[in-house]
Amino acid sequence: MRMYDLIKKKRDGDKLTAAEIEYFIQGYTSGKIPDYQASALCMAIWFRGMDAEETTALTLAIRDSGDTLHLAPTNGLRVDKHSTGGVGDKTSLVVIPIVAALGIKVAKMSGRGLGHTGGTIDKLEAFAGFRTDLTTAEFESTVERIGLSIVGQSANLAPADKLLYALRDVTATVDSLPLIASSIMGKKLAADDDCIVLDVKTGSGSFMKSVEDSVALARIMVDIGRRAGKRISALITDMDRPLGNTVGNTLEVVEAIETLRGNGPEDLTELCVALATKMLVLAEKGDEATCRENVLRVIASGEALQKLADMVEAQGGDRVWVTDPSRFPKAAHTHCVRAPRSGFITRVNAEEYGRAALLLGAGRNTKEDVIDHTAGLRLIAKTGDYVKEGDVMVELFASDPSLFASASVVLQNVTEIGDRAPASRPLIFDVID
Ligand code: URA
Repeated sequence: MRMYDLIKKKRDGDKLTAAEIEYFIQGYTSGKIPDYQASALCMAIWFRGMDAEETTALTLAIRDSGDTLHLAPTNGLRVDKHSTGGVGDKTSLVVIPIVAALGIKVAKMSGRGLGHTGGTIDKLEAFAGFRTDLTTAEFESTVERIGLSIVGQSANLAPADKLLYALRDVTATVDSLPLIASSIMGKKLAADDDCIVLDVKTGSGSFMKSVEDSVALARIMVDIGRRAGKRISALITDMDRPLGNTVGNTLEVVEAIETLRGNGPEDLTELCVALATKMLVLAEKGDEATCRENVLRVIASGEALQKLADMVEAQGGDRVWVTDPSRFPKAAHTHCVRAPRSGFITRVNAEEYGRAALLLGAGRNTKEDVIDHTAGLRLIAKTGDYVKEGDVMVELFASDPSLFASASVVLQNVTEIGDRAPASRPLIFDVID
């Protein structure tokens, strides 16, 4: 086989065979296929798409590109969740400790920032010393010992996704239904969880802008999971505005800690409670009402917060930062974006809010970029709020004050102010079981 022929075949809209997809994934993982040919194939897939058979073959090839996890049998089912990516989406930092506090083992593999969205791994690295690069053996033993662990793709699980994820991030090939579905499900199948809850975002800050596309993505992933023998559900959730009030790594970690203390923003808290409840229901921990009650109980008791502290300590960070977030380094400079007129905030473009955080240093423009964990933004006014001319709408944080000008222009251009309050959007649009 020749990579050139695969690229041409997909470019011309033809279907790739499972053998051709395996050839690509194995060749790219081993370094025999260069980045430029992998980029060209991803772009051809972006334009031409893949059918269900090709998407399943790509998922299985990604799963089989490295190890699969083998944790000792536990007294219960192993459960995981995964988001398709959003702006201000720090739910994993809240949800994983909650379910671990309720006795469920979670071995989670997460990603770094992708496109305009943030990633759990970059957020966790805001804790000085936190290791996201555990080996497969360290990952397994941490989960056995403390009941939870979140790692990047250092453990040799789905290494093809690690390479493709970084490549897609900088080649405008993220927002492709088969590439997202295979990336997420390849990782989930390699981690060999019994139950999976997918948080499929929809709206301006998501890779899938319409509810129809988000439902289509959810159905493909649920179908792949079910065929692999997993219990799997997907929640279609709002990403037309940033989730919670902060965007940027340290800011989001601190907000997640506040949420685990019971003081989080309403939308973030409600979504985390819904996701954790779904995970518990799939793991047969009771009916929905009982599971929800238990979720609220471990937040109120502080047990979930302690689980986050256990994980931070086990992976090389200082657990005191969880109980005293004032220890996180702060950005050297702040700047306020003010309302140009009085009125209701009728709409924000969440993707552009993500891009503004990126401009401030919170994300990467090339694979090699180093991110600034202290950079980001805090929404002082959100969609539906009334602002008076000159009120602060957004507070910006950066290490270099020259970055404020371009981020402010972006935010002012994408925050719409009108005379009437906008219709409210649901937080959860649909559940696909
Ligand atoms: N999350 C992933 O893991 N992969 C994607 O492609 C998008 C979101």
